[in-house]
Amino acid sequence: MCGIVGYIGARQAKPILLNSLAHLEYRGYDSCGIAVLGAGLEVYKEAVRVQALEKILPKNIDGKIGIGHTRWATHGEPSQVNAHPHCDCTGKIAVVHNGVINNFQKLRQQLTGEGHKFLSETDTEVIPHLIEKYYDGDLEKAVAMALREVEGSYAIVVMVADEPKLVVARKDSPLIIGLGDRENFVASDVPAILDYTNRVVYLEDDDLGVITPEDIKVSHGGRVVGREKHEISWSVEDAQKGGYAHFMLKEIHEQPKVIRDTIGGYASVTEPIASLAMPGDTLLPDVLILACGTSYHAALIGKHILGELLRVSVRTELASEFNYSGPISSKSRAIVITQSGETADSLKAIKRLKEAGCQVIVITNVVGSTASRIADQVIYTRAGPEISVAATKSFTAQLMALYWLALPYAKVDIRRLDSLVMGLRQLPSKVQQVLDNEAVVAEYARQLSKYENVFFIGRGINFPVALEGALKLKEISYLHAEGYAAGELKHGPFALLGSDTPVVAIFAQDNTYEAMLTNVKEVKARKSPVMALVEEGDEAVQEVADSVIALPQVDALFSPVVNTVALQLLAYHTAKERGCSIDFPRNLAKSVTVE
Ligand code: G6P
Repeated sequence: MCGIVGYIGARQAKPILLNSLAHLEYRGYDSCGIAVLGAGLEVYKEAVRVQALEKILPKNIDGKIGIGHTRWATHGEPSQVNAHPHCDCTGKIAVVHNGVINNFQKLRQQLTGEGHKFLSETDTEVIPHLIEKYYDGDLEKAVAMALREVEGSYAIVVMVADEPKLVVARKDSPLIIGLGDRENFVASDVPAILDYTNRVVYLEDDDLGVITPEDIKVSHGGRVVGREKHEISWSVEDAQKGGYAHFMLKEIHEQPKVIRDTIGGYASVTEPIASLAMPGDTLLPDVLILACGTSYHAALIGKHILGELLRVSVRTELASEFNYSGPISSKSRAIVITQSGETADSLKAIKRLKEAGCQVIVITNVVGSTASRIADQVIYTRAGPEISVAATKSFTAQLMALYWLALPYAKVDIRRLDSLVMGLRQLPSKVQQVLDNEAVVAEYARQLSKYENVFFIGRGINFPVALEGALKLKEISYLHAEGYAAGELKHGPFALLGSDTPVVAIFAQDNTYEAMLTNVKEVKARKSPVMALVEEGDEAVQEVADSVIALPQVDALFSPVVNTVALQLLAYHTAKERGCSIDFPRNLAKSVTVE
């Protein structure tokens, strides 16, 4: 949801800003721009991707201070004039912003009345004008005064032609400062600055920072505060394509390692990774799991994992809907899953839960993310940076966290427990077998890419896999895809079935198998082509389905892992066949920091 960057130091700012922005494009990519301070303040922006902007920029932009932005439009269509940076009337103050200013209309009216001229339709443009109103030679003071009038969420970087510094501030949108040697960096997210430094400071809500090449000063409520420096373990290579055609493909192929790393990390400590029991209670509480997007599908699978292993009642909800739901029981244990740790709806849900007295466990992939800092307990996944907008390896890692969270409390006999632990340890090689079968999946994808509508069906623990398979396909291939509980198909969607509407059926060797087989027969009777995901050696499904993807044998509890990896490959190759922008699908963003 918009990426922002800043640089101040002894090097030329332009190449650093462009390189950092290119690493942040997963946050938004409908337009971009930079402002550089040399002899004067120069602003360049266009409704194009970063690479295209680079080509049209003058070669000799000279300046060692600068800011940059890559946009995911909220207020106003993607256009040159709506792109950031935005300036004040004098053209001396430039601002890049991620977030939403809720009271921008009122502020814009007021400022217009005071003689300010607005050029864009954005909410952001009120910020440079407010700063202009208060600026008397002290940018830090002017930004602090301007922000007092602003309601909403923001991460901003501000520069002014008359002062060699960057001023930054955040509220409900992520912002980090990267620490260099006599140079400093600002970014929404770590991958933007990994080429330059791995030492960062995470800003807190309502922090205001002043950055020079030699120094950073952070204040909070008018008082200077110290903020801890963190070392990032992600490497530059982690955030590069490493020879793959797309980040998504690389990330799909990283999954055996991600499973190994995530489980290995958990197994290296003897205590449970988080305490599901409530303090002083011997009985396990009810569990509430909240998330958005793909993480929500992990939550739905989590409901089956925890339900089956712990025999507790588990409720799952979309974080975005939960925020409008009724009273919360403080007796529930809440788990919020968010790979980025920055999804606005998930953060709002965490705050609501905490206000109601709930203990919140967060499962996230990003160390230092907002969710990790406001949770009571954090379980980190070890997926490494995920750049492709479509989540793949972060999802698998979330499932690992859920399995490992449940195991210490599992109400199963020791033999079953041993076999589950063994099954988890074998998962990397099982997933590798799925990946080794990529050519077969790619061939099916070639066939699928010719259709316009696809249904995915599953039951039990694989119903969320159907949802995830459909989501992956629609977001990157732009095919209309719907995930359905197999038993629900006859309550409406049957009207849409026919030879031009294929159905992908996801099987597991559990108590859903027979019912799924019946459903597939019903679908075949309506002439829909059926592609089935089955365990290797299965013959019954093969007899009815038009094509099968055979997957390695695993415990049914782990079947979502192998099934999902196959569906990720299916979506990837379908999108490739259709010539889509796989890593940066239209209209989407990786980190959704607006409600
Ligand atoms: C966006 C991303 C999805 C992700 C969802 C939730 O829509 O494109 O891949 O699943 O946000 O993100 P989170 O960071 O909370 O898991």
